[in-house]
Amino acid sequence: MKTEKPEIDRVVTIDGPAASGKTSVSREVARRLGWRWVSTGAFYRGLAFVARQLHTDLKNEQAVVDVALSPVWEVRLSPERTLVFMNDEDVTDEIYREEMGEYASLISQYPKVRANLLEAQRRCYKKGAGGLVAEGRDCGTVVFPHAPVKIYLEAATVSRAERRALEEGKSVDETRASQARRDRQDSTRKTAPLQRAKEAHLVDTSDMNLEEVVDYVEGLIRKDLKI
Ligand code: DC
Repeated sequence: MKTEKPEIDRVVTIDGPAASGKTSVSREVARRLGWRWVSTGAFYRGLAFVARQLHTDLKNEQAVVDVALSPVWEVRLSPERTLVFMNDEDVTDEIYREEMGEYASLISQYPKVRANLLEAQRRCYKKGAGGLVAEGRDCGTVVFPHAPVKIYLEAATVSRAERRALEEGKSVDETRASQARRDRQDSTRKTAPLQRAKEAHLVDTSDMNLEEVVDYVEGLIRKDLKI
């Protein structure tokens, strides 16, 4: 697999398990820095959604790769949500449910699927167009291995499930079980598993509110980059 050139100097990666706060934290940090932002999970969620719409067998790696390569869908950046379009229709509302997270986790195990999404994820960083905050599972290890600042967020399982269950109006137990399944699958897969890059700052968000985490992470970035 190709890696991007080491001249990348304005990329921050934020990785971590399901519902560790990556999305809210990375989006707000990007806003404060005036940088672009991408939630790379949107690529896997969007692909899973589109594949299901097309009645693709998600257990068939090549069939999912064919959908990944098809021009019917695309990911677009925006400061609020990473958007997914299918046939030019905005389907973003469909992709962020926990159920789609499970389908995304399933297809994200396939090496060929990951390889085919990688370049599009890297293209989210445009040299000369300001910085990028990239959030996901393998942003610090695979997508942007040369990023000058890497963060790894962790949170206790219960607080993560409570957070997501509240957002979706679902039971905490059901949500916790789904997140645990995903985390197990995401951390044990062979290709680009959820993993802390050894140089990443480890931030445990269990007992912090969003603003505290954002302040802390912003501080780490400004200190590391001297900005
Ligand atoms: O971050 P998220 O919940 O939106 O991600 C949904 C799924 O996509 C996640 O369970 C695994 C997969 N994913 C991945 O494999 N690599 C990434 N960089 C981001 C997400």
